[in-house]
Amino acid sequence: MSEKDLRHHLANLSLGQIRYHPSIGSTNDEALAWASDGAPDFSLIVADEQTTGRGRQGRSWFSPSGAALAFSLILRPTPAERETIELFSGLGALALADALREIGLQPQIKWPNDVLLKRKKVSGILVESVWLGNEIESIVLGIGINIQPGAIPPDEKLHFPATCVEAETGQPVERFDLLRRLLLAIQNWRPHLGEKHFIQSWQDGLAFRGERVQVWAGDASPATGQIVGLEPNGNLRLALDSGELRSFRFGEVHLRPV
Ligand code: BTN
Repeated sequence: MSEKDLRHHLANLSLGQIRYHPSIGSTNDEALAWASDGAPDFSLIVADEQTTGRGRQGRSWFSPSGAALAFSLILRPTPAERETIELFSGLGALALADALREIGLQPQIKWPNDVLLKRKKVSGILVESVWLGNEIESIVLGIGINIQPGAIPPDEKLHFPATCVEAETGQPVERFDLLRRLLLAIQNWRPHLGEKHFIQSWQDGLAFRGERVQVWAGDASPATGQIVGLEPNGNLRLALDSGELRSFRFGEVHLRPV
């Protein structure tokens, strides 16, 4: 994987600037710094390897050289987009699901934005923001995709069963071709953030719908119930065992007690 390949694959897209690193700590860390420093909208940082990749909930994210796709995309929300800022969380997952379908796979989304293949995690997304006063100035969408088996962390580090794209396609996948498809899909979905069709597609792709799950949302104990679907703002709607409906703005879905 080389910078030349990357630029070649992305040549016809309308992007901000691109930075490529053979090895970096975390593309999200660099993206946050670059966003504060004035990176243009839709600028991209791609790394072959991350040495201190970060996941949600303060976890680490494994991105060894040659086996993963790890990048961060800087988006500068328009005033209208700021009204629906929480939906950026679904944007990357929805777009990645499109890109994976284009190469013949059947992805599902574990709310809010983990992408699964055959109920195993193939990608994680870390959304972070840069604030200016009390306004969000930039959003960083950090996306990690397991492409080859070497990107799957050892069992003892897994919080959820994991797979990689090539294990499911059964053939080699050109990482930068997948990246190009994903960026195009992000560009296609972005003008539709919050529209009925956007939420409907996110909901149609949801994993474990109708199944009994636990949602951990910062309380001492999780809420248990069946996933009903999404609300118009992207919140997860859960039918609790008591019959009551509860809405979650953030949280993590588990299939069994942890
Ligand atoms: C998760 O599932 O916990 C989210 C993982 C997000 C990983 C990506 S890889 C590119 C970007 N840089 C990081 O340090 N993290 C994100």
